[in-house]
Amino acid sequence: MIALVGFMGAGKTTVGRALAQRLTLPFFDVDETIEQRSNATIAEVFRSQGEPDFRALEKVVVAELLGGPDAVVALGGGSVEDAGCRELLENATVVYLGVDSEEALRRINGGDPRPMLESNDPEALYKRRRALYESVADVTISTDGREVDEVVEELAATLGRLGSDA
Ligand code: S3P
Repeated sequence: MIALVGFMGAGKTTVGRALAQRLTLPFFDVDETIEQRSNATIAEVFRSQGEPDFRALEKVVVAELLGGPDAVVALGGGSVEDAGCRELLENATVVYLGVDSEEALRRINGGDPRPMLESNDPEALYKRRRALYESVADVTISTDGREVDEVVEELAATLGRLGSDA
């Protein structure tokens, strides 16, 4: 089981999908699964139910996906703030996709709305989470200024060495 963590804009969904294809594994994205189940966008879930309910739903989906058949699973950027999610990650090979905070905010701009950035200082959020990503990571890789293919090839080689590409 391979789990991708990292800040918003790190490329978890894009890299996760490409990595899954490269390793011939299924790919699941926690946010997409939440959206399908609640028939609403993440921003709508935040607005109608609030962050605590979103986090509860997030933990259920993380538990289900990480407890399921082997796959590549991309988590939302905030999941590592929950101790229960961090514990669930102990059973997976965790890849931390690193990204510079400026680059992350550049990538986020123009993408899907990120409710957490409306109510939090992005830099403070970034700093607080960086240590958490590091604490759960088995493999850390930077995506700054790099093509998706390059990141995927390096990851496939590293995970192959770890013997955890399935
Ligand atoms: C969040 C990150 C988002 C999504 C939600 C909350 C966060 O996922 O789960 O908006 O707390 O950082 P991405 O990291 O895929 O943007």
